[in-house]
Amino acid sequence: MSILVTGGAGYIGSHTCIELLNAGYEIVVVDNFFNSKPEALKRITEITKKSFSFYQADLLDKTALEKVFSENNIDAVIHFAGLKAVNESIKIPLHYYHNNVTGTLILCEIMKKYNIKKLIFSSSANVYGRPKYVPVTEDSSLGPINPYGRTKLIIEEILNDLYISDHNWSISLLRYFNPIGAHESGKIGEDPNDIPNNLMPYINQVAIGKREKVNIFGKDYNTHDGTGVRDYIHVVDLAKGHLKALEMVLGTTGIDVFNLGTGVGYSVLDLIKSYENITSQKIPYGFTQRRAGDIDKCYADTTKANEKLGWKAAKNLEDMCYDSWKWQKNNPNGYRE
Ligand code: NAD
Ligand code: WQD
Repeated sequence: MSILVTGGAGYIGSHTCIELLNAGYEIVVVDNFFNSKPEALKRITEITKKSFSFYQADLLDKTALEKVFSENNIDAVIHFAGLKAVNESIKIPLHYYHNNVTGTLILCEIMKKYNIKKLIFSSSANVYGRPKYVPVTEDSSLGPINPYGRTKLIIEEILNDLYISDHNWSISLLRYFNPIGAHESGKIGEDPNDIPNNLMPYINQVAIGKREKVNIFGKDYNTHDGTGVRDYIHVVDLAKGHLKALEMVLGTTGIDVFNLGTGVGYSVLDLIKSYENITSQKIPYGFTQRRAGDIDKCYADTTKANEKLGWKAAKNLEDMCYDSWKWQKNNPNGYRE
């Protein structure tokens, strides 16, 4: 059984490649290294002791992508490749729409041509926009409030239309909440190129001494301590969710959407305190203004994934903090020498 993983050198993709290889799947990885490094792929082999095919290709390059399909007997696709920075998407929306939406259209066209109709797509809790209630269920109202989130919703709609046009497709739309943590080996993890946008990589860089303190965006949210509450999920739990979704798409046809989170919300201060406790690193912080577009709280109702996929996150906040720190401590410069 051979699985094409687009964006497999990236943060979530690399962790999922490990779980796929450990479970006995063959994988073919496609990535353009726009937001990742070849070293991540070497580490996947180091951890799993298994090799796999890799193509450095852009999804927008139809000829290059078609070569991947003509040279391999692919059974299903897990599609991670995409741009993901919310603020950047507001500055360069056309680039985001083109990369994420056009990239997915090209991928689906080629899949159709090669009669491969099994697809798992990385969607995001961002499609819920400002949730009217928490926990958020899959049928909560949708309304992303930035171009990044809209690329995800548009792709979900395209894939729904694709299924309506041809019921031989089998598609799983996975809405991730806030993935953090790293592989327990400490060899792969999240490696942001620039100043981190997201909280955990920022905390890691404070812990390692690269940044002075965490700027907490707002202290007057409607939450238990005034700081924003999110559903942080260990990236390895998330990766394992893909294997459950894969079993489902391989065994059936249809389209379905699942929240992948823990179902528990933690605040910025909860996360910092847990990180300090488990790692014994002091994390200085200060409060600044709210970040535009942020919401007070967002966490998942995971009942559907629990019941239909037989998947449940197993790792807790301390595991997430411990593994994030282990990755950062072992790799102070990420994948760079
Ligand atoms: P990432 O940036 O680490 O990985 C994405 C990978 O895709 C990168 O290796 C990048 O080089 C590659 N890529 C991007 N555009 C490409 C293209 N046109 N052709 C080929 N490769 C391309 O991001 P991640 O955190 O691993 O996220 C994976 C997916 O999950 C993304 O689609 C993202 O939008 C989605 N997602 C991420 C989060 C999160 O917080 N990390 C949350 C929800 C959803
Ligand atoms: C978490 C909390 C911030 C940084 C984003 C995307 C979402 C998904 C995950 C892709 C919030 C606070 C953060 C900092 C802070 N990605 N914070 N200081 O915004 O929930 O979600 O990443 O799909 O779509 O929107 O994650 O980690 O940026 O923020 O106080 O330096 O930490 O205000 O409350 P977010 P985040």
